[in-house]
Amino acid sequence: MSNIVKIFDTTLRDGEQSPGASMNTAEKLRLAVQLEKLGVDIIEAGFPAASDGDFDAVSQIAARLKVVEVAGLARANKHDIDAAWGAIKKASKPRIHTFIATSDIHLEYKLKLSREQVLREIKEAVTYAKSLTSNVEFSAEDGSRSDRDYLCKAFEAAIAAGATTVNLPDTVGYAIPSEFADLVKYVMTHTPNIHQAVLSVHCHNDLGLATANTLAALAAGARQAEVTINGIGERAGNTSLEEVVMALRTRSNFIPLTTNIKTEQIYPSSRLVSMITGILVQPNKAIVGANAFAHEAGIHQDGMLKNPMTYEIMQPETIGLSANKLVLGKHSGRHALREHLKDMGYELSDDELQTIFVKFKALADKKKHVMDEDLEALVTEGVLRTAETFVLEYLHVSSGTTVMPMASVKLAINGRSVKDAGYGNGPIDAAFNTIAKLTGTESELLRFTVSALTGGTDAQGEVTVRLKENGLVALGRGSDSDIITASALAYINGLNRLEYLKTHPSEKTLNP
Ligand code: KIV
Ligand code: ZN
Repeated sequence: MSNIVKIFDTTLRDGEQSPGASMNTAEKLRLAVQLEKLGVDIIEAGFPAASDGDFDAVSQIAARLKVVEVAGLARANKHDIDAAWGAIKKASKPRIHTFIATSDIHLEYKLKLSREQVLREIKEAVTYAKSLTSNVEFSAEDGSRSDRDYLCKAFEAAIAAGATTVNLPDTVGYAIPSEFADLVKYVMTHTPNIHQAVLSVHCHNDLGLATANTLAALAAGARQAEVTINGIGERAGNTSLEEVVMALRTRSNFIPLTTNIKTEQIYPSSRLVSMITGILVQPNKAIVGANAFAHEAGIHQDGMLKNPMTYEIMQPETIGLSANKLVLGKHSGRHALREHLKDMGYELSDDELQTIFVKFKALADKKKHVMDEDLEALVTEGVLRTAETFVLEYLHVSSGTTVMPMASVKLAINGRSVKDAGYGNGPIDAAFNTIAKLTGTESELLRFTVSALTGGTDAQGEVTVRLKENGLVALGRGSDSDIITASALAYINGLNRLEYLKTHPSEKTLNP
């Protein structure tokens, strides 16, 4: 059996099912390019039958990527499989990923089908998918809560019909590592044709055990791990790519398995996902959290100075966290900027470069050191954004200990300038109230977070907001060296994303 674990990244599909994490097509493409650079083996680019937007994004990703396998998700029916195939067929290595639930609770209440009927559907769906491509994955949804022998029968039927990968999901994050490992061993020994396919696992993190379950399953014989960057995903999320990859790498003495991941691309990938989705990484998150390599306690610092191995089990450089991240300054020219962005994975058109260059010069005037994080923020905001209905033209705020906070705002709404002024409890509240008045929004502000992109008092503030309007949820991001401007930009970005969702109603209606 091979000792290489295939990494199947589903950030663009299961990850996108995180509440409010929807990405536009340009953002998905950008992320897909980064995932290929990271070295994942398979990218699940989306669920093409879910919406025209999903179909389009998956098709563009499939046409663009040359090395990685591109998978499209489909329920076990002809309509979904046709949509998946339609979207991925231009990929150099397309994969159809079809699924149906196998647990009794799903069969009885959700599918209203008998076990025999589901076996027939598996056979039909996989046979049909196989008539379109040789690379077919079958997933037994809620596999970890399915009857073990029936699960084996489902996998046997799928492999007999042509599945080359069979995936065992812990859909509801219910499994315990020793139990899950045991289930993997059971499947390996009780599915007669299992050696004709790769056994995969797909864990959710409801009990905080997704990584532990995945590692236990790999040690027990599974050879594909389905993961997302930063562990984003439905509810408590999916298994996090960086945790599995770094655990395998760091503890290869215990689990002698490797992956094709270029670990120095882990941190840039994590940053990009966070920038694009607006979902911040918790500071104590393993591997990619801001504190993951920070040693505060004096006794630790003392040990680290004497020998880093006293307290450090991984080197920050291994995941792409370089100590010296200073990149460009105000004298850097367009060529240097283009080259540096290229190194970071951003291939911009001349027009896009011009947009970023103007923003870069303005930032470099305010801030001495322009870091990778600053450039990422400029690119995310400058070229990867949703079409903008609302654009900030100016913002002026007055506040202090003796004045009522007030904001004057000028916005372009579909190209037409409007302005107004308003009060609030503080300058940000005043700015938001005025923007809400100008745009006529009814949205509710669910979350507001501020963080610094880099160190120093001249750091850019990064603001994330979460807005809700008529059941639609959107995240907005903004960054600027002035946090009130960053807040206004984040709020406006969130409103633009809500507008986008209103005009693309099918984008978020159908999630598996
Ligand atoms: O969690 C799950 O069961 C899934 C399947 C579609 C693989 O995401
Ligand atoms: Zn899932």
